[in-house]
Amino acid sequence: MEHSQNIKKIVLAYSGGLDTSAMLHWLKKQYGCPVIAFVADVGQEEDFDAIQNKAVATGADEVVIANLKEEFVREFVFPAIQAHAVYEGEYLLGTALARPPIAREQARIAESMQADAVAHGATGKGNDQVRFELTYQALAPKLVTIAPWRTWQYKSRTDLIQYCKSEGIPVESTLEKPYSIDQNLMHCSYEGGVLEDPWQPPPDDLFLMTQNPHQSTEDAEEVQIEFFQGIPIKVDGKLLSPVHLLEELNTRAGRHGIGRVDIVESRFVGMKSRGVYETPGATILHKAHRALESIVLDREVLFYKDCLAPNLAQKIYYGLWFAPETQVLLKTIEETQQRVSGEVEVSLYKGTCSIRRRRSKHSLYSAEYATFEEDSVYRQSDASGFIRLQGLRLRMASDHNKK
Ligand code: ARG
Repeated sequence: MEHSQNIKKIVLAYSGGLDTSAMLHWLKKQYGCPVIAFVADVGQEEDFDAIQNKAVATGADEVVIANLKEEFVREFVFPAIQAHAVYEGEYLLGTALARPPIAREQARIAESMQADAVAHGATGKGNDQVRFELTYQALAPKLVTIAPWRTWQYKSRTDLIQYCKSEGIPVESTLEKPYSIDQNLMHCSYEGGVLEDPWQPPPDDLFLMTQNPHQSTEDAEEVQIEFFQGIPIKVDGKLLSPVHLLEELNTRAGRHGIGRVDIVESRFVGMKSRGVYETPGATILHKAHRALESIVLDREVLFYKDCLAPNLAQKIYYGLWFAPETQVLLKTIEETQQRVSGEVEVSLYKGTCSIRRRRSKHSLYSAEYATFEEDSVYRQSDASGFIRLQGLRLRMASDHNKK
């Protein structure tokens, strides 16, 4: 739904970058109504005062900055780690997980300020437009969505720079990096520019959160993480809030070059796209969480969880966080986490995070059963009948094939 008539107030998801700056000005001109710049802080490294000033200078009637870091990590990042939701085997979903809380807060603000439309700066070719708009539709279906990139006449960054120059909109004179970058507390993603050739390795000065693992320190570092019901709560014995915990792990993993991924992924709208990611802290958490689950979860529960994981990852990637089926999946995952309490120690070294040890008071691991030494609990003779019955249908099929 996009029509310029009768819109009374617009809340724009504003980042301070070129696209949303041009957009802010363009919306005011096009719709002739107040435009509120909504800035979401999901942990990207930015000067929010500068963004606020820029929004005002560009013509925002009001600027609202919302700190969403805590809810982003607690409600979105941690559940995704608990589920081991990973898209196409590699992508830990850092951007896909941040869109729902941003769009949810934007819709909330729109409703509380009696705005009737929400706008975003995502292009018509990517996943982010879908994630923003499916969230608006799930939570505030009455709001009109405006996606200027899909309708205005501008086709490129050059067009936008031109527009800003001619309208007197402040644009940073410093040449922006020629990539599409999306950063938050969980990750940083890079697309576009030289990366559009999948045969071009990423330039070494690309990365913001991690050291090059080939040049990182020679000293391995141990980190101990304590989980309570699947939620990481302590690092090296120190109780930390979700935000501080992820920040701490980002710093430590970052200096060992952990969490870099370079992939070609399948976008929801259909094309393949090359993406480079760094997800330092969350990479440690994925590893450590799985190590803990390995001792506390029942075999079949673990297997069942792992069947759900790619499905949930796809829902998240497609922007369907608030869809009913995703909520059911998340509830199921949460249900599996009750026993996932305990500690894991990992070692960080040159891009790798390896498990050193793990323990839990709910551990199902029993040295008494598993031992290679003599035991008094397990009857090895039971295994004969167990295997013979497992083999029944194999023997029958074999007989049949020979006939
Ligand atoms: N390809 C990733 C995803 O779809 C990252 C997108 C990054 N978005 C951006 N506007 N740069 O989740």
